[in-house]
Amino acid sequence: MGAAAQLPKHVNIVEVGPRDGLQNERVRLTVAQKVRLVDDLTAAGIRDIEVGSFVHPKWIPQMADTAAVFDSIRRDPDVNYWALVPNMRGLESALASTVSHVAVFLSSSETHNMRNINRTIAESTEIIREVVDAARSEGCTVRGYISTVFGCPYEGDVDFDRVLSIGASLLDMGVSQLSIGDTTGMGTPLQVRDGCARAIEEFGTEALALHLHDTRGLALANALMALEVGVTVLDASIGGMGGCPYAPGASGNVGTEDVVNMLDASGVETGIDIAALLRISRQLELDCGATLNSRYYRYSQAGAV
Ligand code: HMG
Ligand code: MG
Repeated sequence: MGAAAQLPKHVNIVEVGPRDGLQNERVRLTVAQKVRLVDDLTAAGIRDIEVGSFVHPKWIPQMADTAAVFDSIRRDPDVNYWALVPNMRGLESALASTVSHVAVFLSSSETHNMRNINRTIAESTEIIREVVDAARSEGCTVRGYISTVFGCPYEGDVDFDRVLSIGASLLDMGVSQLSIGDTTGMGTPLQVRDGCARAIEEFGTEALALHLHDTRGLALANALMALEVGVTVLDASIGGMGGCPYAPGASGNVGTEDVVNMLDASGVETGIDIAALLRISRQLELDCGATLNSRYYRYSQAGAV
């Protein structure tokens, strides 16, 4: 029990698989398959689910049917169902689908921001300001992603002061939580520990989430370091699906099963049923016709769980 002494008692997992995972899968799931995925994640005990995005369908065809998915999911009143939006057009679509939890996003490196949303960081900041204002006036809660915070695939090192200054401006606009993204898994454990400690010092624990991709296999080590300095919200993707289409080399997000298994083993509560997660991953593998990479899921498939 002593091993859990420096870790938080409870960690909230934000499940991003239906958006960050599926946006990068070659196979496109049907609306019914996506709806089952979200409903099963709800039943597994996840309290925050990113259902999809309202972006340009030419840029991300996998998300073209997000409105239809929102129309059919079972909405548990204890669960927040998030939609990612890049601009006012996306917000309007989200509101038409009675979305109440909206995520905005921009990058801390210019080149990635341009490749991802075709705007400079300054332009994105102004677009996001308008989106946050409008969303909040409609009663929405808004989350803000900052991408490439521990390194950019185009520009290399990213100055963390820049991340902090973008974070401060998002919070100033009324974003309730920042999710700092290691978009291509370039972060290393000590770097992530120091970055998260600085972000918590600046913004407080409540305002911070960490979004890890597992490109180089360091996501769990990075997550653990972050938890030790006070992070209590982790984004994860069922089966370890995911990536960013505009970040070469970005592989999946850290797998939800892997995070929950690590937390279960460390005495940290998540409220999530890991056996249910494994069943969801199995279904997803069948639906996608692709192999999922989360380590705990692969281990379970070897007949060990
Ligand atoms: P653009 O081409 O500059 O758009 O793309 P525009 O404003 O010039 O408009 C062009 C056309 O797109 C217009 O239509 C608009 O109506 C339409 P037209 O008049 O030509 O018929 N349009 C839209 N259509 C549907 N939905 C919209 C929308 N907005 C404009 N929301 C844009 C700019 C942002 C739209 C485009 O670049 C885009 O959709 N990008 C999506 C990028 C994306 O989804 N990336 C992945 C998510 S981010 C991520 O994965 C990172 C994260 O996980 C964190 C991490 O890992 O670090 C969050
Ligand atoms: Mg991501």
